[in-house]
Formats: sequence, C-alpha cells, structure tokens
Amino acid sequence: MAEALHTVHVNLAADSLERSYPIEIGRGLLTDTSRWQQWVGGRGVVLVTDDQVGPHYAASLHSALGEVGRFTTVQLPAGEQHKHMGTVQQILDAALGDRHERQSLFIALGGGVIGDMTGFAAACFLRGADFIQVPTTLLAQVDSSVGGKTGVNHAMGKNLIGAFHQPRRVVVDLDTLGTLPEREYVAGLAEVIKYGLIRDSAFFDWLIQHASDLKARHLETVATAVRRSCEVKAAVVAEDERESGARAHLNFGHTFGHAIERIQGYGQWLHGEAVAAGMVMAARLSSARGAIEPATVAQLIDFNQSLGLPIGPPPGVTASKLLDAMSSDKKVAAGKVRYILLQRLGSPVITESVTKRDIEGLIDA
Ligand SMILES: NC(=O)c1ccc[n+]([C@@H]2O[C@H](COP(=O)([O-])OP(=O)(O)OC[C@H]3O[C@@H](n4cnc5c(N)ncnc54)[C@H](O)[C@@H]3O)[C@@H](O)[C@H]2O)c1
Repeated sequence: MAEALHTVHVNLAADSLERSYPIEIGRGLLTDTSRWQQWVGGRGVVLVTDDQVGPHYAASLHSALGEVGRFTTVQLPAGEQHKHMGTVQQILDAALGDRHERQSLFIALGGGVIGDMTGFAAACFLRGADFIQVPTTLLAQVDSSVGGKTGVNHAMGKNLIGAFHQPRRVVVDLDTLGTLPEREYVAGLAEVIKYGLIRDSAFFDWLIQHASDLKARHLETVATAVRRSCEVKAAVVAEDERESGARAHLNFGHTFGHAIERIQGYGQWLHGEAVAAGMVMAARLSSARGAIEPATVAQLIDFNQSLGLPIGPPPGVTASKLLDAMSSDKKVAAGKVRYILLQRLGSPVITESVTKRDIEGLIDA
C-alpha cells in the first residue's frame, strides 16, 4: 500500500515559481496508480531506465501509469561509462522515432546516471520537455535528483556537457532501496552526512545516534534522513539555483574527493566513498585552523569507519598528485583551487588559502 511519509518543496526564485516542485518521499509510490494518473494526466511518456533497475521496477511503474498517450521505454546499459552524448542520442532517437511531442513527459527511473541523462535529454527534446525523477539509489534520492543539474561526461572530464533543467517532481519510493547493493547504499550515506556537516549540526548528531538503524535501512530512519537531506539541498538550490554562491557549499569534501577519483581512475572507489574521504580531509583542515573541535573530526572518522566508508585517501595518493588533480578540475576558477572548509560545524566557508604543506599534513599524519 502506498504511503506518503514526507513532502519537501523546492521553492525556486519568485520569477520562476512555476518551476518550483515537490519531492514526495514514501513507500509504494512507484505503483500508486491514482497518484501517477494525476501526475501524468494522460500525456505521452518516455520512461528511461537501466538494465539493473528496469527489470525490478519498470513494468510495475508502467502499469501504474494506466492510460497514457504514446509510451516508450528506453532501457540503457547501467554504469557511469555510458553517461555520454551517444547514450542521450539513443534516448532522443527513441522519443523522436515514436513521434512524441513536447507535451510528453520523460520519467527517469534509476540512479544519478539515468537521472542526469534523462534530464538532459528532456532539456534538449523539442527545446524542452517536462521530466519526473524517480531516483532509486540513496545518492540520487538525497542529491542528484534534486536541483536541476543534468548532463553527461566528455572525454575531457566529468559532467562537462549539460543544462540546468528542473524536474516537475521527484518521487522517492524508499522501497526501491530494497534491491540496492550495500556498497552503493553506504556510499549514498556520505552525502547525507555532508548535509549535517554543512548546514545542520543537530542532524549530524542525530545521524550518529541512529548509525545502526541507518545501516540496517530502518524505513522510518531512512525516511527522516532523506527528508532532512532533501530539505537542505532544496534550501541551498532555492538560494542559489545556478551555483554563483552558496550552492558551492554542496561541494564540501568534493574537491579532495574528485581529485582522489581522478588519480585512482574512475570506478575504483564509488563517488560517495571518495567524498567520505574528502570530507574527513576537509574537516581535519578546518580543525587544524581551530574552526571545529578535534572531537568533531573524531566523531566523523568513527562514523565513517562504522559504516565502512574511507577516512582518507588510498595509499599512493600524494599531496602533489592531489594538487595536480585539483588544479585540472573544471570548477577551478582562474587557476585557483577553492576549498570548502567549515568555519564551525554546520557552516562552511570557501577559501583558496590551503598550502601544499597543509595537504601533506593530511596524508602523512
Ligand atoms: N545532477 C546532480 O546534481 C548530481 C549530483 C551528484 C551526483 N550526480 C551524478 O550521479 C551519478 C552517480 O549516481 P549513482 O551513485 O546513483 O550511480 P548510478 O546511477 O550509476 O547507480 C549505481 C548502480 O546502482 C544500480 N542501481 C540503481 N538503483 C538500484 C536499485 N534500486 N536496485 C539495484 N540496483 C540499482 C545502477 O544500475 C548502477 O549500477 C554520477 O554520474 C554523478 O555525476 C549528479
């Protein structure tokens, strides 16, 4: 039976109220015919999924849609290596081949890879069609499905091609986490912890207190964690939709994390694992400056360890390699690496003043 547990609203700027949208969090939502009929309203549907998620959920979502106009399913191979223009072209070919019109609705059923590509395909299709995110990884539920960043990778780097295109709604059915592999689930928790660190110290404490329920995927605990994460992300996106300021705070742990992914080669550590290591590094730097208590860093390290997340870069990653990798990141403005540190727990600060020696201290200690 469907149960809506929470709804979070992404309220965009006053001039774009019509683009504001809800995030529905609950269970059984994927198969709730009455909700889907209301959301789709008889329009055509292009359902995009991957070959790990589709076999579990695509048929039940399809039947929940009931009577729709044209219906197309695009099932893509799973994995980051398929997040490129060629795959988006496949989505567009299928939609055009089935003669969908701009009124058709794209539905992204999957993790962040499917969400990013489907959103981008929808942004390009006949100059912009609506889409709904149905995220099925924890990372996608708390992060990538919210905020309207869509796109694909290029040989020159990750997410270099894309568009801001907000979904019409985000439907988080927590039941889908039942089939998510443990490693993917835990990697998603890293982004949840991030929201506590950057915006809500009480949430950080709550997460630590509920570590074992979180790890066990206790439904109400996960629902609360997803809700609070979405509230924080929604607030940041509402404040700074196009990342000219506060949205950069969401990159806490990512400057180091992206560099680790780059040095290791993508696919060694999951993104969330690299971010977990990066957050410990950023927290240690913040603590070395007296901005947060050493006890907070110790809590973060213990929490990561209890979940099985890394607490620092893997062997062989030196300060020089990190600096090289960080300088070639697309987010580097005018050759300066910008670090997101904490000025206190729950409040980040952006700074360029981190030296090679500071970074060496994080690796050799
Ligand atoms: N747009 C944004 O704001 C934003 C933010 C963060 C990350 N991202 C992007 O998100 C992507 C990573 O997303 P991800 O971590 O969800 O990875 P993913 O989409 O690759 O999913 C991970 C794996 O889990 C499988 N899977 C997904 N849901 C499942 C389920 N319920 N049951 C069983 N298997 C399931 C997928 O098939 C895949 O093999 C990256 O491309 C990253 O750039 C985007």
